[in-house]
Amino acid sequence: MSDSAAPRPVSRRTFIRKTAGASLALGLTGRTHAATATPTTNAAPIPLAPPAWPRVNAADETALIEVLRSGRWGRTAGGKRVATFEATFARRMQARHCIATSSGTTALLTALGALNIGPGDEVVLPAYTFVATFNSITASFALPVFADTDAATFQVDPKSVAAALTPATRLILPVHIGGSPADLDALTALARSRSLPLIEDACQAPLAEWRGQPVGTQGLGGCFSFQASKNLTAGEGGAILTNDDAFADLCYNYHTPGGGRPSPSSGRGANYRLTEFQAALLVSQMARLESQAQTRDANAAHLSALLRQIPGMTPATLTPGSTRSAWHLYMFRYEAKAFSGLPRAKFIQALAQQGVAVSSGYTRLNTSAHVLALAENPHYQRIYGKTALKTWIERNTCPMNDRLVEEALWLPQTKLLTDRSEMERIATVIADIQKRSGDLARA
Ligand SMILES: Cc1ncc(COP(=O)(O)O)c(C=O)c1O
Repeated sequence: MSDSAAPRPVSRRTFIRKTAGASLALGLTGRTHAATATPTTNAAPIPLAPPAWPRVNAADETALIEVLRSGRWGRTAGGKRVATFEATFARRMQARHCIATSSGTTALLTALGALNIGPGDEVVLPAYTFVATFNSITASFALPVFADTDAATFQVDPKSVAAALTPATRLILPVHIGGSPADLDALTALARSRSLPLIEDACQAPLAEWRGQPVGTQGLGGCFSFQASKNLTAGEGGAILTNDDAFADLCYNYHTPGGGRPSPSSGRGANYRLTEFQAALLVSQMARLESQAQTRDANAAHLSALLRQIPGMTPATLTPGSTRSAWHLYMFRYEAKAFSGLPRAKFIQALAQQGVAVSSGYTRLNTSAHVLALAENPHYQRIYGKTALKTWIERNTCPMNDRLVEEALWLPQTKLLTDRSEMERIATVIADIQKRSGDLARA
């Protein structure tokens, strides 16, 4: 998502809302729930808003009502759904431990808190990510250092991560952007060679795989988000996966006051617990996560094959070693030259007129007003000094990312849940715009 302080495009969540409307207009939602809920009490039926996402079924409704009637709405009230979700998600993702949290951001905050990352520490993150990755670092008063992007994959460039490391680096925090794995071979080797922990921001990537193994445990741990737009959602929610027993206990104790597991305390902690309502929805939705993922896999492959035949359209490639993307976003690049110089914004408009809602995606996070404000923040000035913060701004230049944000386009995961014929329609619409691009560019 673009940083809220940046001037330009639609935020990812607004984009999802808008595209949901567009999909509905085309009758492509595949919604499994009636537009009006069957009343379960004598109250008037509750009309459901009709977005394309989430998809709701009767099992979700039953699961929620069971929690409601149990009176056990949280894990501290004796509810068992959070633990059931943790066990289910850990099993599916082949992880030893899962700690459920209230959001992806709080999953990241828990991981950083468990590592006791704080003032004076540097954390390396990609420039091409949602602002929450950055926020999780600054909430700990650590210094976020941006690494540049590999334009072909849209993922962080491991060489740039290596160049960003200093003796103050305490963590490498790559992101599997769009749900496609970053280069985990190179990044884990780098982390090992420097004796640094690696935490995967896998917020967009449930079910993504690296060399046949689900992401999240290739390094010390991985953080996931179940926010409203995500492939697996409870409106909000998150989780940390790890195979490390000691780290799991540290995370558990950090995310719940008085956690109670035997592990040394740093004196820090929070309440970042998931509720039983959210857990019930997540368990229920996990039953269809794999079949939805297979639909996205097939549609993404078909769309890529079609788009590669159109000059100026370049689908993001999967990093060699990626064996599955979660396809949270379908990312591709637009070369205006191949469309008679038609600016990307006009191309997006032309697509929208044909019912294909495409976003231009993230803007330059590393030079956004939100990020630059850190250099003026009195706490940061006290911790790092004004001169070091000036140098920090210079260190954050990411030329490949600057170029990518001008060319990028995204389709949301909901589009990939439609069908093969819709992929063909998208390609046909683009080919048609290309034919008319001279006229459109002059208009
Ligand atoms: C890459 C990335 N990191 C972190 C987050 C934060 O997750 P949440 O919105 O659940 O706090 C998100 C999701 O929005 C994300 O896409």
